[in-house]
Amino acid sequence: MSRAMELRPVLILILSCTAAAAQVLQFLKPPSAVVGQTVTLYCSFPLFRNPEKITVHWWKDGDREFLSSKQDSRREFQIESKASAILRIHNVRFGDAGVYYCRVQGEHTGNGTGKRLDVSASPHPLKIIPKFSADGFLTCICKTSAFYPDNYTIAWRKNGQNVGTGIKTSRAKNTEGLYEVTSYLVETQPVHTGTVYVCEVSHTTLKDPTRTNYTVDIPDRSISESFPWWIYICIAISSLLLIIIVVVICCKCCKRKGPKGNSQTRQCVRCYEPIPMNSICKEQGLRKDNHSTPAVNPRAGRNVNGTASKHKKHRKKERGLECP
Ligand SMILES: *[C@@H]1O[C@H](CO)[C@@H](O)[C@H](O)[C@H]1NC(C)=O
Ligand SMILES: *[C@@H]1O[C@H](CO)[C@@H](O)[C@H](O)[C@H]1NC(C)=O
Repeated sequence: MSRAMELRPVLILILSCTAAAAQVLQFLKPPSAVVGQTVTLYCSFPLFRNPEKITVHWWKDGDREFLSSKQDSRREFQIESKASAILRIHNVRFGDAGVYYCRVQGEHTGNGTGKRLDVSASPHPLKIIPKFSADGFLTCICKTSAFYPDNYTIAWRKNGQNVGTGIKTSRAKNTEGLYEVTSYLVETQPVHTGTVYVCEVSHTTLKDPTRTNYTVDIPDRSISESFPWWIYICIAISSLLLIIIVVVICCKCCKRKGPKGNSQTRQCVRCYEPIPMNSICKEQGLRKDNHSTPAVNPRAGRNVNGTASKHKKHRKKERGLECP
C-alpha cells in the first residue's frame, strides 16, 4: 500500500508526460475489491495550468447519467492534482461492479479509457445447523454467506478426520447474482456427545479457509425418554396434595381430641408428641384425673363391652392430651 502511494505521483507524471494531448487514462486501486472494502478509481489527464478549471465527470457503463454523491453517499469525488482526479467508493457492494469512465473538460477535453471494477464477496462467515431426525440420526447443515465468484471448495471433518461420504452440496444464485452454498452431512451412525464436526470453505477472497464447528451435546436419551419433564411436575403436585391432606386430617383430629380444650394451639402441638411420653402421661392421668370422668369405672373397660371400650379409648386419649 505504501509502495503504491509512493509510486502514484511518479506514475501520474509519466502518464501526463507521455500521454498524447488530451489522452485520459484510468487505473484502479486495489485492482480488485471485496465487498465492504474501499476502492479508488484514478483518472489521469494532461496537466492543466489552472486546476480550478478542471471538470471531471464519472459514469458507469450502462448508466445514462453521470455519477454523483447525492445518489449515493458512499461515493467521493476529488480533483487530486493538476493532472488527476479520483472517484472513491466506500463500503463497496457487489452491485458496484462494472466498467467506470471519467470525462475531463476544460483546457483539455477527453474521455477516459475505462476501467473495470470487479467485486468479489467472501463466503465467510459460515453457519452450521444440527438437525436430528425422529429416529435420532444427525444431519449437519453448513451454509455459506453469499459469495462471488463461484469457485470454492468445501470440506467436512469429524473429530479431525476428513469425511468423504454422506455429503450433499448444492449451490444457488441469489437475486443479487451472488452464490450461496448449502452442504449436508448425513450421519448413518448414532452420534455421541463430544463429537466435533467442522465445515471448512476455501475461496479466492480468503487467505485461509473459513471454518465453523458443531460439538454434539445430547442429554442422556435413556433418562430423558423414561422420565419426560411433566412427570416431575406430576410428582411435585401429588406430593403437595399429600402434604395438604395430611395437614387437614391432622388439624381435624386435633380439634376432635380437645373438646374441653384450653387453647387449640396447645392441643395441636400435643398431637405431635411422641407416643412414649403420652403413655407415661396416661398413667399419671389415670391416677390424677379420676374425678373428671367419674361415671366410668376403669375396671369396666376390661369388660367385653363395645360402648364401654369405646368410652375408655376416648378417655385415655383425652388424658394423654391434658397431661401437662
Ligand atoms: C465521450 O463519450 C461520450 C459518451 O460516450 C461521447 O458522447 C463524447 O463524444 C465523448 N467525448 C470525447 C471527447 O471522445
Ligand atoms: C470450534 O469453534 C470455536 C469458536 O468458533 C473455537 O474456539 C474452537 O477451537 C473450535 N473447535 C474446533 C475443534 O475446531
